[in-house]
Amino acid sequence: MPHHEPPPEKGRRGWKLEDIDWSGIQRDMVRDDDDLFYLLAPASFVEILSDHYTRNLIDHYRGDSAVVGWLEDNWRREEMQHGEALKTYVRAVWPEFDWDGAYAGFAAEYGAACTMAALEPSPALEMAARCVVEIGTSTLYRCLFNYVREPVLRQLLANIKADEVRHYGHFHAFFEAYNREERKGFWEVWRILRGRMTEIRDDDSYIAFKHVYAWRRPGAASGEGMWTQYSRYSWRISGLARRNYPYAMAADMLLALLPLPAFLKPLLRLPIVGIARLTLFRPPPSVPVPPRLSSTG
Ligand SMILES: [Fe+2]
Ligand SMILES: [Fe+2]
Repeated sequence: MPHHEPPPEKGRRGWKLEDIDWSGIQRDMVRDDDDLFYLLAPASFVEILSDHYTRNLIDHYRGDSAVVGWLEDNWRREEMQHGEALKTYVRAVWPEFDWDGAYAGFAAEYGAACTMAALEPSPALEMAARCVVEIGTSTLYRCLFNYVREPVLRQLLANIKADEVRHYGHFHAFFEAYNREERKGFWEVWRILRGRMTEIRDDDSYIAFKHVYAWRRPGAASGEGMWTQYSRYSWRISGLARRNYPYAMAADMLLALLPLPAFLKPLLRLPIVGIARLTLFRPPPSVPVPPRLSSTG
């Protein structure tokens, strides 16, 4: 396997949990925001489970010391810190929520499906898939940043978003390097991007929602009843997302990935933003979809 040099990380300190002014949280500004709780708690689960997914990725790229080194030394630590920071925030604002109990159920279900089979077969295509996950996370945190007014959470979301954008930059650079050898064309890359975008919406969020809801409202719903609750929640969240989602940022990140002639990309930007506005935050179907798994980011 070839060795690829990542973009430089030298001299970058990054942020730490202790940099956050936890005692300054203005609980009254967020405590009654149920939608925010159901966004932050699942996000903390998925981020912390990065630990599990990193091992799969490292196995996939064993032999490429630059990729493995960056995943182990930077990416894994930063994703777990996102999870720890969100968990700390959720516990500070909603102390009655049994984070550990809900996480145990989530980790068992999500972790079991998150195996090597969920990785793309080619190194370049898996890097493209990783980019989609980072586009998803960086735009999600940007969307939340636009929505939230509580200052400590805004600081936290700004820090996490900046990390996710940088992760995208690294995976993008690795994708370009691998694809100079693999020479995957537009349709092969597009098929991966499309598939991953659908999975992010349908699967990760449902599994996480289910475990958060079951612990917050014990005995309230299971099976199709749970899906109904999830549909209602998604309906409400879709309104919040439509108003705050950074469509142009997502379009730019997506376009940068696609193997297309450079002159075409600016022409496609507005149509992609338009399509995203029309299609991204539709409510889910009323019947459960079979779970597939993507990954953490
Ligand atoms: Fe993250
Ligand atoms: Fe990330």
